[in-house]
Amino acid sequence: MILSLIAAIGKNNALGKNNALLWQMPADMKYFRETTAGHTVIMGWKTFVSIGRPLPNRRNIVITRDVAGAPTGIEAVSSLDEALQIASLEQGRKFEENQDEVEVFVIGGGLTYAEALPKANKLYITEIDDSPEADSFFPEIKKDEWQEISRDHHEPDEKNPHPYSFVIYKRM
Ligand SMILES: NC(=O)c1ccc[n+]([C@@H]2O[C@H](COP(=O)([O-])OP(=O)(O)OC[C@H]3O[C@@H](n4cnc5c(N)ncnc54)[C@H](OP(=O)(O)O)[C@@H]3O)[C@@H](O)[C@H]2O)c1
Repeated sequence: MILSLIAAIGKNNALGKNNALLWQMPADMKYFRETTAGHTVIMGWKTFVSIGRPLPNRRNIVITRDVAGAPTGIEAVSSLDEALQIASLEQGRKFEENQDEVEVFVIGGGLTYAEALPKANKLYITEIDDSPEADSFFPEIKKDEWQEISRDHHEPDEKNPHPYSFVIYKRM
């Protein structure tokens, strides 16, 4: 199983404030949708609340201490390890022959990324050329642990107010 993290971050590693995203960037939303479609996504409870519903066309696993209180449409688990375990079990049944190539995405937020980063193989980072005030941050991407394998830069346009780059890292 490939464990990937996907996030949009500011120059100051900002992720969110008051349990909301910091930017309205339709190009990034489209990239997120296309990259994660058909895959399992794992998120912390606060990120699930901020999205407000299960993401369509994806298996939604949500980490919370209150598993019993979780709504339908998601699979609630009490730890990241449990999330990874059930993701791999289900994937193993579905894709017995090429399990190594099955990709599972951690989609936030800050606490969940920090816990998942040491276990991750790949990072999909949208770098946004902005440094807003925030209360949730992506953990440091150490240059001696992660190799940048692609970078796709875009200038702002009428719908996307900041310059942004889709960057992919793989673990060295
Ligand atoms: N820019 C981006 O790409 C992006 C992506 C996603 C989210 N965000 C932003 O990130 C912010 C939310 O991040 P956050 O760090 O506050 O919260 P979070 O990681 O989304 O959720 C934290 C919650 O998840 C549960 N949880 C996480 N790890 C756990 C563990 N090991 N064991 C048990 N429960 C665990 C706990 O829920 P309980 O309290 O229910 O136990 C915890 O309070 C928001 O502002 C959101 O908009 C940004």
